[in-house]
Amino acid sequence: MKVYFIGAGPGAPDLITLRGANILGRARMVLYAGSLVPLGMLQHCHDAELIDTSKLDLDQQEACYLRAQAAGCDVARLHSGDPAIYGATAEQMRRLDALGIEYEIVPGVSSFTAAAAAIQTELTKPAVSQTVILTRVSGRASAVPEAESIARLAEHRATLCIFLSGPHLKKIVADLRLHYPDDTPLALVYRVTWPDQRTYQGTLGKVLKETKRRDWNLTTMLLVGAALGRDLQTESSLYSKDFTHIFRVAKKKKPKAAK
Ligand SMILES: C[S@@+](CC[C@H](N)C(=O)[O-])C[C@H]1O[C@@H](n2cnc3c(N)ncnc32)[C@H](O)[C@@H]1O
Repeated sequence: MKVYFIGAGPGAPDLITLRGANILGRARMVLYAGSLVPLGMLQHCHDAELIDTSKLDLDQQEACYLRAQAAGCDVARLHSGDPAIYGATAEQMRRLDALGIEYEIVPGVSSFTAAAAAIQTELTKPAVSQTVILTRVSGRASAVPEAESIARLAEHRATLCIFLSGPHLKKIVADLRLHYPDDTPLALVYRVTWPDQRTYQGTLGKVLKETKRRDWNLTTMLLVGAALGRDLQTESSLYSKDFTHIFRVAKKKKPKAAK
């Protein structure tokens, strides 16, 4: 008997990995975070007992694992995006360790990369930003250490991907403006890859004037940083015809004709 923590991806049922979908197809018990995993994802399941964990506390989830252990059946535990990010998987793994239950993690497409895809951007650009910071603001369930506050992280002016941000938009914008210029590109992506996906693309200085805050309260990814800009000229050397690396030799420059 084994528990598989599976990244369901951001929502679209075809954005789960093949490995994840195959495990869902053969698992006899499936636990899923009903608040973030769409029901369409459960089309990959066959004859499984389906349990929505948004209504269960950790003890009740542990009881499900124990029941599956007694029945000798594998469990698929679906998490939105990638289980490694704000998935509350560490506490489950600790319980499974204590119970001597084996587990495996199957990664998934995180909402921050899906949001970048939705707005057709790269999050790292040469000479602009080569760093992506994944963060959130403090919530009732989990506090963020002061050293990682948005105001402190903004000092880097890197590309920031802010999870669980919707209800705190006004404060986030105020903190970002301490260090990022007002013309910094900013995007909000609500329920990326769901049928009702919605996006806003604008700037840090205008976002509060151009959006209604209540539209972004739930399941929204905020991306901000100069790298989101469209008009960046610098290219990396990787595909430059003058650049040699282990897989490709640069074209020889023609010697200048003698005068
Ligand atoms: C509990 S965290 C889970 C993150 C998830 N593990 C991941 O890798 O995307 C929930 C937050 O992730 C973001 N999120 C998850 N799914 C999303 C989606 N489909 N569209 C936009 N943001 C999403 C939102 O910021 C949401 O408040």
